[in-house]
Amino acid sequence: MTNTASPNDNLSPSARPRVFVVRRLPAPNEAALRASYDAHLNPTDETYSLDRLVDAARAYDAIVPTVVDDVPSAIFDAPGRRVRIVANFGVGFDRIDLEAARRNGVVVTNTPGALTEDTADVAMMLLLAAARRASEGERQLRGGEWEGWRPTHLLGTRVNGATLGIVGFGRIGGAVARRAHRGFGMRVLYVNPRPPDPRAVLDARADEVTSLEELLAQSDFVSLHAPSRPDTRHMIDAARIARMRPGAILVNTARGDLVDESALADALERGHLAAAGLDVFEREPQVSPRLLSLSNVVLLPHLGSATTASRVAMGERMLMNLDAFFRGQSPPDRIA
Ligand code: DGY
Repeated sequence: MTNTASPNDNLSPSARPRVFVVRRLPAPNEAALRASYDAHLNPTDETYSLDRLVDAARAYDAIVPTVVDDVPSAIFDAPGRRVRIVANFGVGFDRIDLEAARRNGVVVTNTPGALTEDTADVAMMLLLAAARRASEGERQLRGGEWEGWRPTHLLGTRVNGATLGIVGFGRIGGAVARRAHRGFGMRVLYVNPRPPDPRAVLDARADEVTSLEELLAQSDFVSLHAPSRPDTRHMIDAARIARMRPGAILVNTARGDLVDESALADALERGHLAAAGLDVFEREPQVSPRLLSLSNVVLLPHLGSATTASRVAMGERMLMNLDAFFRGQSPPDRIA
């Protein structure tokens, strides 16, 4: 049974493990950290320099970064390092040097499962908004350019009955597939490196295809749910975009570097792709000026998990990992 009491309840405040939190977190998570740890919080949400994080690695037992913070080898290799656990606030860990963590015996954890449903909602929102030209319409209306209903005004792409290709059928990919099939009458195809959860496949009546190329060729919509790794970088490049159906729509709520943004902009400018919906970008928070200038892209500022429920759950999961570690147990979401 999980032990829910803090491992530090009996320790005086000065004897408690020292935790360095890199970003401002939701208030309930900060209160829980304050109650159990000697916690350094970041109320102004300032962005710390690498030097500051290296100093933190020397002075604290734990560092809590988020998915946008770099945790390079300099932190794990810091002379006089005190830090023994890096408890990431978020699922993606592409900015943490896991190899350096392993080499130095530092534990790393993440927060899977806490944000699945909310991120799947954002993927569907982008799919629908891109298909039905929602941002374009709102911009027109707010700009005072709407001339009224006309039979040919802002015609979009029908979602019902269309085929959705899911690239990566993990938790979030499966949740998008379920919504698309059950809620919007879509046919679902998928590729995944491992056999996925059979219940999720059944729920969406999803069919596996043998290659990404085949999935791209058969799909009207493609939604990306793969992790960022050297082998997935630019998995959607010019050659793969050329395999997509004319008029297809690409949705990305996973990581920006899965897509070659310049090749995507080319395809959107030429009209080979009808539209795209993006919540993540290659160089966040910078967004390609070409994408910004296109009217057929819906752009969101990495909002996938941005509900109070998800963010608090992510913090609780992070704390569960910290508590287990300081209790001398293996944290449930250990990735290194
Ligand atoms: C994650 O946890 O990896 C998400 O991108 C945060 O929204």
